[in-house]
Amino acid sequence: MRRVVCPGSFDPITNGHLDIIARACTLFDEVVIAVLVNQTKSSLFTVDERIEMIKQVTTRYTNIKVDSWSGLLVDYCRTNKIPTIVKGLRAVSDFDYELQMSQVNLQLQGVETLFMSTAPSHSFLSSSVSVILCLIRVDGNSPGTVTEYCL
Ligand code: PNS
Repeated sequence: MRRVVCPGSFDPITNGHLDIIARACTLFDEVVIAVLVNQTKSSLFTVDERIEMIKQVTTRYTNIKVDSWSGLLVDYCRTNKIPTIVKGLRAVSDFDYELQMSQVNLQLQGVETLFMSTAPSHSFLSSSVSVILCLIRVDGNSPGTVTEYCL
């Protein structure tokens, strides 16, 4: 079974993330969306809220699992027997950091990283941009509704 992990903060998930996830679903038997638990970084949504939002907007995919993790991503990969990471690259500016990270992950545990170029229509999107849009548009109810309003 070919498995891949799609890691991120997903604070909140955007259509840019969804684009990468959808394409990964066609290439792999199982795509694990892993939400980073980062105690040192303040977040807009709790990890449980983020997981709930991801589940709500990925119901159409049958080969997705949503999970959370903290610490090193390669440790999560080893524990869960996932040999590959998938990441979206929006622009060249993403590349330096991601290249370094992928080389460390390869060196540490032999975990491969697959980069996908973001669809041009989503290349300007990040969670922080989407947060602004959400705050303007959302009606302030359940965080589960937020992604419906995220571009
Ligand atoms: O959505 P984000 O905030 O851009 O996601 C960043 C994330 C979680 C994908 C990135 O921080 C990451 O891969 N962290 C893993 C930390 C790790 O394993 N570091 C070791 C290599 S230096």
